[in-house]
Amino acid sequence: MITRSATSQDISALVELDEQSAPVDAIDGVEARILDKPDLLEWMLQHDGIVVAIDEGRVVGYVLSHVVKWMHGIPELVWLEHIGVHPDFRRRGVALALLEAVSSKYHGRASCLHASIHPKNLASLRLMARLHAETGERVLAYVQLSSPTRAI
Ligand SMILES: CC(C)(COP(=O)(O)OP(=O)(O)OC[C@H]1O[C@@H](n2cnc3c(N)ncnc32)[C@H](O)[C@@H]1OP(=O)(O)O)[C@@H](O)C(=O)NCCC(=O)NCCS
Repeated sequence: MITRSATSQDISALVELDEQSAPVDAIDGVEARILDKPDLLEWMLQHDGIVVAIDEGRVVGYVLSHVVKWMHGIPELVWLEHIGVHPDFRRRGVALALLEAVSSKYHGRASCLHASIHPKNLASLRLMARLHAETGERVLAYVQLSSPTRAI
């Protein structure tokens, strides 16, 4: 298995992988697809934000990330937008290899990786624990800027 930066030629394989994983990964019956957004994929590719894991020529995992200038007072922080591994290839170190690649990629440019994880996503929480991540509970808030005070 190798890791490398994704190119536009990987798009269909990435979308297929996302489709195959979404039903398996549904939490509370909700399938959370991430790669069904062409704009997101395009932006990530333009910013070299996708690393893929390849096993015998097949895309079996991916990680989306980009650098945020400031977050929680931390400068140049790597935001982990998503990481996914094909259900048949899990628990083989693919996610660790992807995150190792992310770490190398941003070496010298950023010092910390930040992720938001659903509290029921045990695999992802365990993965972060394996990386000795500091964790804490926060409430996510999304305010629609088109009408921020309408509900007040
Ligand atoms: C989370 C996910 C990316 C992990 O990928 P993976 O390739 O299976 O992870 P790895 O094999 O590299 O696991 C590394 C370590 O993480 C922990 N871990 C990973 N999956 C685990 C699970 N299902 N249960 C318990 N621990 C787990 C273990 O400590 C593991 O080391 P070990 O196998 O030596 O015990 C994968 O389960 C996945 O794609 N989930 C669906 C998508 C998702 O939820 N992404 C995260 C959104 S933030």
